[in-house]
Amino acid sequence: MANEAGQPPALDNLSLADKAPSSKATAQVITPFDVSGGVDESGKLLPVDYEKLTREFGATPITPDLLERFERVTGHRPHRFMRRGIVFSHRDLTKILDLHEKGKEFYLYTGRGPSSDSMHVGHTVPFEFTKWLQDVFDVPLVIMLTDDEKYMHSQKIKDVEDAKNFAKSNVKDIIAVGFDMKKTFIFSDFEFVGGAFYENICRMAKRITINQVRGTFGFNDSNNIGEFHFCATQSATAFATSFPHIFGTDKKKVSSIPCLIPCAIDQDPYFRQCREHAEKMKYKKPSLIHSIFLPALQGPGSKMSASVDSSAIFMSDTPKQIKTKINKFAFSGGKETAEEHRELGGDTKADVPFQYLTFFLEDDEELERIRVAYEKGEMLTGEMKQRCIAELQEYVKGFQERHAQVTPEVVAKFMSQRPLEWNGNPNPVVAEKK
Ligand code: TRP
Repeated sequence: MANEAGQPPALDNLSLADKAPSSKATAQVITPFDVSGGVDESGKLLPVDYEKLTREFGATPITPDLLERFERVTGHRPHRFMRRGIVFSHRDLTKILDLHEKGKEFYLYTGRGPSSDSMHVGHTVPFEFTKWLQDVFDVPLVIMLTDDEKYMHSQKIKDVEDAKNFAKSNVKDIIAVGFDMKKTFIFSDFEFVGGAFYENICRMAKRITINQVRGTFGFNDSNNIGEFHFCATQSATAFATSFPHIFGTDKKKVSSIPCLIPCAIDQDPYFRQCREHAEKMKYKKPSLIHSIFLPALQGPGSKMSASVDSSAIFMSDTPKQIKTKINKFAFSGGKETAEEHRELGGDTKADVPFQYLTFFLEDDEELERIRVAYEKGEMLTGEMKQRCIAELQEYVKGFQERHAQVTPEVVAKFMSQRPLEWNGNPNPVVAEKK
């Protein structure tokens, strides 16, 4: 079902075609603007089916072979997110590994739509992973704050100033993840659009048709024209020529530098569209590496949302707030009574505290011990919550300590247009002459 541009089948068409027969049941919908796992006939929220999504999007699952190659090429054990299927699919990651192996240039690109004052733990997942990739590859990183996107899309954001203010507070949160200033450029679209970046936005905008945007994002005639145009902006960051202060002005050379985009899977539609046009623009297609969503406290049918306070642990929460939220709201895979639990054991797949430990507890062996003990009924819900609370309190505390160091000068430095310093692969394999 390719459309006229030969694109993969459109998302909204797919979910329509996929509608379950019963009137109550709805299929999962994942777009940059809507994430839901769908509901079954009884109206129960279903977890997101990531395998199905990978197939529908036409992405490639990350296999044990690929992880092995990653380790061989980078000399680093894959991140716990990769080991545990939290980072689960990709597009052309192998091309990036080929380049790294030979010591050739590429960069990292990620971003955030600033739609709330404080980020929650779910927001930090792609950033944590990106920081780790930056350390592993030692390459430049650009971080895009799409204040324009949020201004255009959000009902809550009434004025440009509001979006810019969210961007300002989010920058501090992003820096607090621990990025290396020498290798990182953070920008707000409202501030940075112009020059070479705007040229690329227009090059892209000229190629994207209304039909394509409709198909890819499910927009209709009631969406505003800013929403349509923004697709070009998010794509233009995937081209190194947008950043002459980092890569220089040698058009031919810089055009051939690709990027790797770590992102949550909901952002894939933007980049599928970008990949469709990149080569016609004489640029390289961006590569992608996708993560799943951190489930809401209520369970794996939806992702954490900054606008639903009881669904999220915020990076600004106190240890006490974290404790209260987990105890009060975190969906448990445990049994009704302690006796029943001891006898039958708990369900770690449904258990939100266990899911959070899968994201944040580094020690594989401890995680496995917890899983086994819970499933056997040796560990009770209260203890599981306790362990999760301790881990999240620790994670948020580290973040808050770094956050306190982020002065206005630090922010200004990260956001200034300046050359970056990086080394890439210290031991590239030199290609043999034929
Ligand atoms: N659209 C994203 C959001 O709303 C922000 C974003 C822009 C992004 N570029 C990106 C996210 C690249 C991941 C990777 O959050």
